Amino acid sequence: MDLKGKLITFEGSEGSGKSTQAALVLEYLKEKKLPAMLLREPGGVKISEAIRNILLDVDNAGMGDECETLLYMAARAQLVKEVLIPALETGKIVLCDRFLDSTIAYQGYGNGVDIATIKQMGKFAVKGVIPDLTLLFDLETQKGLSRTNAHKDRIELRSLEYHNHVRQGYLALAKQEPGRIKLIRVDAPKEIIFERVKTCIDGIL
Ligand code: TMP
Repeated sequence: MDLKGKLITFEGSEGSGKSTQAALVLEYLKEKKLPAMLLREPGGVKISEAIRNILLDVDNAGMGDECETLLYMAARAQLVKEVLIPALETGKIVLCDRFLDSTIAYQGYGNGVDIATIKQMGKFAVKGVIPDLTLLFDLETQKGLSRTNAHKDRIELRSLEYHNHVRQGYLALAKQEPGRIKLIRVDAPKEIIFERVKTCIDGIL
C-alpha cells in the first residue's frame, strides 16, 4: 500500500480533553492550508456509528468482553476500509480521535482480554496501518471522570478501579513505544496544552 498521507491519533482516558485538542489541531492544519480531516472511533462512518450506539448503550450491560472487543474492532475495520486508507492514499493528514491503542488500554488492560490476541485482531482490522504519531493525554483518573458529563455511557459507568487500569495501560504503552506515542500531561489550561500539541505536530509535518 502506498500511503502518502499521515495518521495522527489522539488517545487518553475519560475527560482527558483529547477531542478538544483534536478539533484545535484540525483548525490549525486547515489554517496552514493542509489537507486534513478528523475522524472518531468508534464511529466516523454510518456502519461504525451504528456499532458505536450498541457499544455505548447502557441497556447493553450484559455484553461480554469478547463481543465488546470484536465490536470495537469491527467498527474500526469499516472506518479503515471506507475512509482511512483511501484518505491516506490521497495524501491527507488524518486525525483520529482514538484508534487501536484504545482497545489495548480499555479491553486489554481494563477488561483483561489477552493483549496478544487484541494485537492479532488489530492487524486484521487495520491492514497494517500504524499511526505516524500518537498523542496520549494523561491526567489523574478521578479528575478525568469528574469532567465527563452527567449522562454516562456504558464504559464511563465502570468503576474507578477499571479506569485506573486503563490509565496504567496507556502509560505502559507510552513506555513501550516512546518514538510513536508522545505523553502530554493535562495539567494546564487547554491553550497551554495546545502549544505542547503543536510542537509534536510540527515535528512530523
Ligand atoms: P469517546 O468517549 O472517546 O468517544 O470513546 C467512546 C468510549 O469507547 C470511551 O469510553 C472509550 C471506549 N473505547 C473502548 O473501550 N475501546 C476502543 O477500542 C475505543 C475506540 C473506545
